[in-house]
Amino acid sequence: MKALVLAGGLGSRLRPLTQTGAKQLLPVANKPIIHYVLEDIRAAGITDVGVLVGSESSVGIRRDLRDGNNWDLNIDYLFQEEPLGLAHCVIVAEQYLRDDSFVMYLGDNLLKGGISPYASAFSNAKKNATIILTEVTNPTEFGVAEFDDSGSLKRLVEKPSLPPSNWALTGIYFFDQHIVEAAHAIKPSGRNELEITDAIQWLLDEGYDIGHEKLSGWWKDAGTPEDLLESNLLILQDLEGSVDSTAVIDEESQLMGQVKVGAGVEIKRSIIRGPVIIGDHSRIEDSYIGASTALGARSTVKNSEVSCSIVMEGAVLQDVPAPIDWSLIGRDAIVNRNFEKPKALNLILGDMSRMSIL
Ligand code: TTP
Repeated sequence: MKALVLAGGLGSRLRPLTQTGAKQLLPVANKPIIHYVLEDIRAAGITDVGVLVGSESSVGIRRDLRDGNNWDLNIDYLFQEEPLGLAHCVIVAEQYLRDDSFVMYLGDNLLKGGISPYASAFSNAKKNATIILTEVTNPTEFGVAEFDDSGSLKRLVEKPSLPPSNWALTGIYFFDQHIVEAAHAIKPSGRNELEITDAIQWLLDEGYDIGHEKLSGWWKDAGTPEDLLESNLLILQDLEGSVDSTAVIDEESQLMGQVKVGAGVEIKRSIIRGPVIIGDHSRIEDSYIGASTALGARSTVKNSEVSCSIVMEGAVLQDVPAPIDWSLIGRDAIVNRNFEKPKALNLILGDMSRMSIL
């Protein structure tokens, strides 16, 4: 079995963070999202991975993943000129996939427990496709499955106003070669994309055998700032605390719960309430770091309070007069207090930035 990881797309809902890099490389608990995807694929025993990139993500993704050696994977890159839909990705990958079966895994999806059980179930059952479903409270925002009386998959409906069930499609799909035929057979949707739900529906209509698996653990599609923060919170729930031997923590500081402290970190007169991960060579002074926070490498927090947030590499929070919560702070961003005159907010915000002040 091969894997097809989708890392094209625009990532427009995550601007400005995606203005300078691919969405799939944004960090969750200090690790790029796509690394979790590759780890899941390797853990399922798959070694051949086609990573589909687009014009926005190509350079960054190739530079980061290289040939896949870090994960013991063989990575080939496939280029999609325009994000014309998930079924279009299958067409782009046609030559690479040949007649192999494969798992298609969206490069911005995170899944508790990985894909190994589903990969084995798919291989053993010899289905033409298996979709992975998760129970949601807001099915109108997803592709949703409809079942017949025997519990078999009957139909897939995209963002239904009257949902036939609460079971939504996740971004993990197992296919044999027939999906390529389906992707060629369907027509673009109203948003001018070749939809994977339409391709799977085509397979169902043609009488192919489509299985489904229901997830018990959590699944997250890290498509929006809120999703990214929630993914960070979920991943940090399983964090195991440790302090690198080169970290320096003074006696006035307190670490509680699971706190992972990287190499060369300095913590002075501060309280850290885990789960919290602190990247290498970060500095924290006279500050409070609350639960579910990830501080990237080389970040600085001085005389400030931050909780439930992602603070990326090299960012600085200094003398911030109010607690920061549920926030995404990009690489090398600076948030500090203005002690100069005029006493005014002094802002340099990228396109589509958001700032809420007290
Ligand atoms: P989406 O989140 O649906 O799209 P996007 O990444 O362009 O984001 P936005 O809507 O905010 O602009 O894509 C889900 C995943 O699939 C993501 O990892 C990108 C990938 N993808 C492709 O690689 N090619 C495509 O044609 C599409 C639609 C998505």
